[in-house]
Amino acid sequence: MNKKVLVTTAWPYANGPLHLGHLAGSYLPADIFARYNRMIGNETLMVSGTDEHGTPISVQADKEGCAPKEIVDKYHKVIKRSLEDIGCSYDLFTRTTTDNHRKTVQEFFLTLFENGYIYEKDMELYYCPKCRRFLPDRYVEGTCPKCGAEEARGDQCDACGRTLESTELINPRCKHCGSAPEIRERTHYFFKLSAFQDRLIKWIESKRDVWRPNVYQFTINWLKEGLRDRPITRDLEWGIPMPIKGAEDKVIYVWFEAVIGYLSATKEYFINKGCPDGWIDWWKTPDTETYYFIGKDNIPFHTIIWPAMLLAHGGLNLPTNVPANEFLNLEGEKFSTSKGYAVWLDEYLEHFAPDPLRYCLSINMPESKDADFSWDEFQRRNNEELVSTLGNFVHRVLTFIDRFYDGIIPRPSTLDPRDKSVLRDISKTVDVVGKHIQNCEFKKAMASVMSLASLGNQYFNEKEPWKTDKKAGASTLYVSACVVRSLSILMVPFLPFSAQKLWNMLGYGDSVHEQQWSSAKEPVTSQPIKDVAPLFKMLGDEDIAEQKAKLEAIK
Ligand code: MF3
Ligand code: ZN
Repeated sequence: MNKKVLVTTAWPYANGPLHLGHLAGSYLPADIFARYNRMIGNETLMVSGTDEHGTPISVQADKEGCAPKEIVDKYHKVIKRSLEDIGCSYDLFTRTTTDNHRKTVQEFFLTLFENGYIYEKDMELYYCPKCRRFLPDRYVEGTCPKCGAEEARGDQCDACGRTLESTELINPRCKHCGSAPEIRERTHYFFKLSAFQDRLIKWIESKRDVWRPNVYQFTINWLKEGLRDRPITRDLEWGIPMPIKGAEDKVIYVWFEAVIGYLSATKEYFINKGCPDGWIDWWKTPDTETYYFIGKDNIPFHTIIWPAMLLAHGGLNLPTNVPANEFLNLEGEKFSTSKGYAVWLDEYLEHFAPDPLRYCLSINMPESKDADFSWDEFQRRNNEELVSTLGNFVHRVLTFIDRFYDGIIPRPSTLDPRDKSVLRDISKTVDVVGKHIQNCEFKKAMASVMSLASLGNQYFNEKEPWKTDKKAGASTLYVSACVVRSLSILMVPFLPFSAQKLWNMLGYGDSVHEQQWSSAKEPVTSQPIKDVAPLFKMLGDEDIAEQKAKLEAIK
């Protein structure tokens, strides 16, 4: 049965380019999932955008000595471009600085306010007497009270990943001037998160066997520690202004506002299409499924705070699944944007094709535990797996057809038991890969695709069509071409660019992206193949050395 599937990804802060950790954590798994869902005939909508407000942006603006607006304009462009170039198939990739988002957020806020879930309260906050300003979130730094790291920020400690309140920091200092701030009273607006404790526990428990164990466990632990109400306004200029008279000097907290982007982006997509009510089916019909692909540092915002906000609003769907990934490390160490220790996606794309990276990150995705990216491994997997297994198989088959069958995929006269068993394996693989993707097990899915390529190689070797007569060879080449055809469809979610190339080499003139998933089980037609060329390129040591040296210099 066809259904509506809303696929979303975390909104990256527009304060720097994306790196491979972001891609592996959120954007790539979402794209695989969305592409697959389109192919099985589900109505699929994939939206996200850049997160452009709050202290992550204004701190970067201070650092680069320019206005926040310049920062977000610059990085929105860089991020959007690299997501396109790596093949992420968003239906809309927008930003949180649009009028539509501001309007949606302010309405959302007022609804919660009217429903009695937002209230005013005095709180104690850091104030820098020297700078004469309050110090929201990242404007205070200090020692993490939980892990002792010295570089913790007022909103979060990057070392241990915990979310913090700035007054919890030990030895706090002002980010601007380094001096010790003092505590002052200040009125802010609070979201009554505590009111949702029981309902959230009940809801989460219903997900016990569906969600990834790490996501489920993390969430349930958080909930059982007890939920505290949270301040959702800030003393800051850069953000969405409060829609309440007398409070216009405050802005809405960036996290509270960014998650509403999932809703506002859906609205924007349908406004652009000329049917402004189109979003309703995607948020109010309970049989629409909603998936949030995020990294593990974002779990509580998506499994607790956003669901609580949705409940407080009323009438909107809760997440179906939040398949959060663990972290990707780089050459055995953590990515660090502040130290510049990262492989930036835009720089990767200047040197290499998108599919080899998509392959490496899929086959080694940090799904249930942290994973590591290294350039040596990238080179090895590219050369041994993409080139020598997948690429070599399809190349052998197609060049053989080219040379000995006048470039026309032969029709078999008979099929022996081995031929038939390979054809059955194609069918099985199509189902297995689909099931894995459906379960958000992308690593296994990618591995199953590759095992079909290995099987193809093995079969071709066994059959030795170069030794047999032309008639027996025809069956072998036919079955092999069936495998190739199936591979090109199964590759689509993972290796969309190579999938299309391969499809065209088989002589099909249309888009492989428009094929039904189940059609990967169909036999190949006898037709002329076209412009056979290697699908993947060997990477030499010299290609890799430059990249390794860049990281070594930072280490
Ligand atoms: N910008 C946040 C981060 O990079 C993620 C926000 S996801 C959101 O950690 F959609 F909730 F905004
Ligand atoms: Zn100061």
